[in-house]
Amino acid sequence: MRVLVTGGAGFIGFHLVRRLLRDGHEVTALDNLNDYYNPALKRARVEAIGTHTAFRFVRMDLTEQEGVLQLFREKPFDLVVNLAAQPGVRHSIDNPFAYTRSNVIGFLSVLEACRHTGVEHLVYASSSSVYGVDSAVPFQTSEPAESPVSLYAATKRSNELMAHAYSHLYGFRATGLRFFTVYGPWGRPDMAYFSFTDQMTRGEPIKVFNEGKLSRDFTYIDDIVESTVRLIETRRSDGSFHVVYNIGRGEPVSLLDLISVLEEEFGVSARKEMVGMQPGDVYTTYADTSELERLIGYKAQVTLEEGIREFAKWYRTYRGELEMGSDNTGALVRGVDEDSKRHCQTSLTATSLRGEEGGST
Ligand SMILES: NC(=O)c1ccc[n+]([C@@H]2O[C@H](COP(=O)([O-])OP(=O)(O)OC[C@H]3O[C@@H](n4cnc5c(N)ncnc54)[C@H](O)[C@@H]3O)[C@@H](O)[C@H]2O)c1
Repeated sequence: MRVLVTGGAGFIGFHLVRRLLRDGHEVTALDNLNDYYNPALKRARVEAIGTHTAFRFVRMDLTEQEGVLQLFREKPFDLVVNLAAQPGVRHSIDNPFAYTRSNVIGFLSVLEACRHTGVEHLVYASSSSVYGVDSAVPFQTSEPAESPVSLYAATKRSNELMAHAYSHLYGFRATGLRFFTVYGPWGRPDMAYFSFTDQMTRGEPIKVFNEGKLSRDFTYIDDIVESTVRLIETRRSDGSFHVVYNIGRGEPVSLLDLISVLEEEFGVSARKEMVGMQPGDVYTTYADTSELERLIGYKAQVTLEEGIREFAKWYRTYRGELEMGSDNTGALVRGVDEDSKRHCQTSLTATSLRGEEGGST
């Protein structure tokens, strides 16, 4: 299949691209490499994908509507996986327009391009945050999810409604994925497990929101990728055009337990600073994945302890390289290459992004 993965230099996109290449697909990864978090990590991910005849990286912003449409027209895609978005709840309080820009206007560019180029299937990232604070646990996709408590969540719920309208109007299949707190190697530095690790291993205090009375359904990246790939390969028998699924582990873990797992793994004691609830945050996330399991025959398997161990192996090398002053990709990629190979059977060599970068950031 010819596949486009937007947000292909992002955490989930990077892992998915490697898996799709390994499965023999032709993959284009699109990303604007923005600086919401260190773009060197995004570049390092693209380098770690490596030179591969079936792979190309395109630097482009989704809001460049003409450019996006042209890319779709060059050689139409069979499958589009839209992962590019402005993530993060706290950031949406201070930078609201970044969310409407990437998550609403950018997503509309993708829908329009799907409409005009006959894409068969659009898979896109939604989020567990759409459930807000009123939904009963475990969260079921039959919940109305009409009360988002952050702009981030509101844009993700809007994506579901927009995808529904477009798949109904123009007859392509669309599948929304409500991801639940994804973590693992090559992860996102803004997420709690990663920023706590940074702070704890430097002896700095960590802010524990709502005094630790929060829980998250942590889901390991390999389980996310496996479920996504199986969903891509499964033809829905009921003929439905647009469906939304929860992709989570279904076992929420409290914030304090996460901290204990990190303390154990890194052999440090956290200096906890108990603070109140963050605006826009939710108390718990907990996925009911029974519908998904029935369809794809797979349930997330990796425990938090196992997943954090894998994250820690990668993190130690990553931090080591950063502290040695490697501000970009080369040494970082070489350093983690051995670990990377475990996650990707394909033999990949480092490549340069230069010459493959088009549009603007
Ligand atoms: N990681 C999680 O726990 C989680 C949970 C729920 C939902 N999601 C969703 O999954 C998707 C992937 O998340 P991630 O954790 O890999 O995040 P990420 O930030 O690592 O990846 C997103 C990528 O999209 C790119 N991007 C952002 N705006 C863009 C634009 N306008 N044009 C082109 N590229 C753009 C960024 O540069 C980044 O590399 C996102 O849509 C996110 O909202 C993630």
